[in-house]
Amino acid sequence: MSTDWELLRRTAREMTSRSYAPYSNFHVGAAALTSEGLIVTGANVENVSYGLTLCAECGLVSDLARQQAGKIVALVVVSGSGDYCSPCGRCRQLLVEHAAVDGIIETPSGPIPIRSLLPGHFDFNRLEGG
Ligand code: THU
Repeated sequence: MSTDWELLRRTAREMTSRSYAPYSNFHVGAAALTSEGLIVTGANVENVSYGLTLCAECGLVSDLARQQAGKIVALVVVSGSGDYCSPCGRCRQLLVEHAAVDGIIETPSGPIPIRSLLPGHFDFNRLEGG
C-alpha cells in the first residue's frame, strides 16, 4: 500500500479548521493512513478548564477505534500554518500503542518511525510483567 502524503498533508491542514482552540489559538490537525486503507483524522479541542484539552492526536486515535481502522501506517500532524507539530509526550504514548510496527510520521527532517517518538514507552508487556 503506497502512501499519498499530499492527501495526508492536505487533510491534516483541513482538520486545523475544525479545531476548537479559543484559548491558545493554536490549531492542530492530524491525518493518518491506516492498515485497513482508511484515512483517520483529528483536531485539538480545548476546554475552559485548560488541562482537559484534547490534542489532535487524541481525536485521531479515537477516530481510529471508531472506524475499526487497524493501525496507523503513515501520519501527518500540522498546525494552522501547515508546519509540523511535534506530538506532545502524552500523545506519543497514545500513538505508539496504535501504530503499525513500521508506522511512520512525517517530520521536517523526513519520515521517522512512530515508535522512535517515545523510547522506553510503557507497553502491555510491562503491565503483564509487573
Ligand atoms: N496540541 C495538540 O493538539 N497536539 C500536540 O501534540 C501538541 C499540542 C494542542 C493542544 C492545545 O490545544 C494547543 O495545541 C496548544 O498547546
